[in-house]
Amino acid sequence: NQWTREARYRPLSDLAPEVYQLMKEEVRTSPWRFSFHVQPPTGLLNDPNGFVYHDGTYHLFYQWFPLGPVHGLKYWYHLTSKDLVHWFDEGAALIPNDDPDSHGAYSGSGFVKDDKVHIMYTGNKRDQDWVRHTSQIVGHLRSDGRIEKHLPPAIATVPDGYTEHFRDPKVFQHQGTWYCIIGAQRNDLTGATVVYHSEDAESWMLLGELNTRYPDFGYMWECPDYFELDGHGLLLFSPQGIEPTGDHYQNIFQSGYFIGQTVDFPNLSYQHEDFLELDFGFDFYAPQTTLAADGRRILVGWMGLPDITYPSDRYKWAHALTLPRELTLEQGHLRQNPVRELTSLRKDTLYEQHLVVEQQASPVQAEVFELVLSHLAISSGQFELKVRASEQEETILRYDTQTKRFTMDRTRSGAEVPAIEYGTTRSIPLTEPLHTLRLFVDRSSIEVFLNDGEAVASARIFPKSTSQGIVLSGKATAHLAIYAL
Ligand code: FRU
Repeated sequence: NQWTREARYRPLSDLAPEVYQLMKEEVRTSPWRFSFHVQPPTGLLNDPNGFVYHDGTYHLFYQWFPLGPVHGLKYWYHLTSKDLVHWFDEGAALIPNDDPDSHGAYSGSGFVKDDKVHIMYTGNKRDQDWVRHTSQIVGHLRSDGRIEKHLPPAIATVPDGYTEHFRDPKVFQHQGTWYCIIGAQRNDLTGATVVYHSEDAESWMLLGELNTRYPDFGYMWECPDYFELDGHGLLLFSPQGIEPTGDHYQNIFQSGYFIGQTVDFPNLSYQHEDFLELDFGFDFYAPQTTLAADGRRILVGWMGLPDITYPSDRYKWAHALTLPRELTLEQGHLRQNPVRELTSLRKDTLYEQHLVVEQQASPVQAEVFELVLSHLAISSGQFELKVRASEQEETILRYDTQTKRFTMDRTRSGAEVPAIEYGTTRSIPLTEPLHTLRLFVDRSSIEVFLNDGEAVASARIFPKSTSQGIVLSGKATAHLAIYAL
């Protein structure tokens, strides 16, 4: 294996610029590159980081290992946008070149203070015996686009009771006080989150553990995010080590939330409902939210998972971010919908009609598109929508009127299907009969929003670019619109 420890911790600056240019060119011209998703110029993208709005601009960063499709020395790559749709490439903003982050500038969040974008992130350091030392570091974005670190770290050591798996601070303000919530592993190898507070967001004091009713739920909780929506308190986190049960927890790692009463600060009690997954697809992890200019709560996730190989790996890049979603609550239930700004991606209308499907319909062909099926009325039995279809390939979305189960099937999505050991179908029972389906399809991904955000599924697929069939089958009527993106 070429990915020795040395190769994984090699900094980008070690490479001659011409050599890196060649790699960029190789990646740029490789198959399955996205048309409208955030993807790395080279190497591996993972968690969204530092997502924040300031002064007319959204800032979004991601975890980045520049030199290959593996987890190595992590940087923060920076993007800006005016509309959450078109992202301007700002390059590497946070470089892991100081002692406390010598082995990676790990995940963290963004916040605005003194009219400047600030971040708080995890410094990952390995000592000579390869023992991990984590710290939490504050920084701010300078006008030259680089993050200036406020060293030494704000939280220099892990508190008693926790292992060195202590990371991913999410900063927020509550009644004039700064808080941060950190993903942790207790010494007994169970997952938790730990809260600190601060008056100035520079010097932080340990408050304690957030008291959930899940004291033993996996061995590590990564990337926590706490926020309030319509008077409810939501805790998002990505627990590791949950066994599959029924339709649930089918991926290698999970990502979901509690919805409950607002957390009682500073005593940290939290009354909440059961854990629910955010996405029932195959490729979704470590999401992060922020507040939009107009107060909407927006979520972006990593459309990928740790420890899974993907066909694009051999072209020296891996992964993308999901489309931004707006989170709302309806009668106490979370809804996730694509942000409304995404309609600006629509180019030609490829199809728009009231449609009666007697048996089968193939309205148009498309590779990169948005599809909206609304006012869907299925007479009986099963209804299927196949996309990216050809003789050999198809990605199937299926709804069963009897069981009210919706299934995404990528068994035949392409010659190479990732993570087959975790199965190639995912299902979810819907509470409302299926009436609306909104689909965003890119060169190597599909994101499905059901019933105006009741459920969402994201998946990477690796079909041939010539597999462009769209086929509806069953007995149904609906309004169908398909837009080229
Ligand atoms: C989640 C994660 C975080 C960590 C980061 C490192 O995917 O493991 O917990 O900060 O990735 O890249």
